[in-house]
Amino acid sequence: MTPVLEISGLRKTYRSRKGVRNALDGFDMVVEAGQVHGFLGPNGSGKTTTLRTLLGLIKPNGGRMAILGREVPQHLPEVAGQVGAIVESPQFFGNFSAELTLSLLADAGGVNRSRVPAVLDQVGLRDRSKERVKTYSLGMKQRLAVASALLKEPKLLILDEPANGLDPGGIREMRTLMRDLSDSGMTVLLSSHILGEIQLICDSVTIISAGRRVTSGSVAEVLAQHTSGAVRVRLETGVDLLDAATTLREAGAQVTLENDYFTVANATNPALITKVLAQRGVYVSELTPVSADLEDVFLELTGTAPVAGQNRQVDESSISGAKNGWGQ
Ligand SMILES: Nc1ncnc2c1ncn2[C@@H]1O[C@H](COP(=O)(O)OP(=O)(O)OP(=O)(O)O)[C@@H](O)[C@H]1O
Ligand SMILES: [Mg+2]
Repeated sequence: MTPVLEISGLRKTYRSRKGVRNALDGFDMVVEAGQVHGFLGPNGSGKTTTLRTLLGLIKPNGGRMAILGREVPQHLPEVAGQVGAIVESPQFFGNFSAELTLSLLADAGGVNRSRVPAVLDQVGLRDRSKERVKTYSLGMKQRLAVASALLKEPKLLILDEPANGLDPGGIREMRTLMRDLSDSGMTVLLSSHILGEIQLICDSVTIISAGRRVTSGSVAEVLAQHTSGAVRVRLETGVDLLDAATTLREAGAQVTLENDYFTVANATNPALITKVLAQRGVYVSELTPVSADLEDVFLELTGTAPVAGQNRQVDESSISGAKNGWGQ
């Protein structure tokens, strides 16, 4: 099936008096139909630039983009009706109600007003829809923004940092909303730097750093590619941890001591830990792999930002086996 969204080699250079900045440096992304896709990256990594370029709001310096199989920006008018987006947080008129706001937006967009109660239901604002927007919480304003993007029944919904500024309750509501939309068949692309949320909401992710994709895939795949390789080791009670740690360090292990256990960061072959220690008459009582979460992966990948000007995606070279494991 044609992906809903394809970006390859996207470049955007901002020029200012201070010089030239490559906001996007050959960026790639693919979003398959029916997914909730997380677009993750640290501040300034190029997320908003990507989304604005995609929507024809700024002009790229190179690369290709396609939405629903049509090249954009050339064919944007043909697909624009199927894309709902909130990129800059929209400003609503505080004295209007949500219902009036959406009715006016429906008129302006040539959408039948019958969609208004439907989208209000979808985002859970029906009960408060006759109240003025200035009485709404931030979370409700965010939901009104989503409602406005849903008016034209888009196939693809693009949201830039929808959880920004929301408290945990608001984030949970947003998460449920994203799930419901996805269950109804919509493809959702959402940018965020809230990693835990992406891990919970999204089926797949693209991680961007310094204008380049550093990894992508299903959340499970991305996590699997980056299993921390670390193991937690506990020893029989009464054994001197420091002694055992020293023994392992001499054998090349990267050991971090904790209170009543230690971790070995580069344990590609955990059996070697038991072997080295057993040779000294020390026995392991627990050996647990430390699983990576998306936050670990994110920090690992974006902490080692790609080198500007080098013409390759970092994920093509760094994932498989580049880590220097111990005991291979
Ligand atoms: N209009 C502009 N003029 C000059 N530089 C810009 C402009 N807009 C963005 N940039 C620069 O481009 C880079 C990418 O910015 P962008 O806003 O796309 O990042 P982001 O990933 O959305 O960050 P955030 O998480 O903070 O929203 C940054 O270095 C930013 O300073
Ligand atoms: Mg941004």
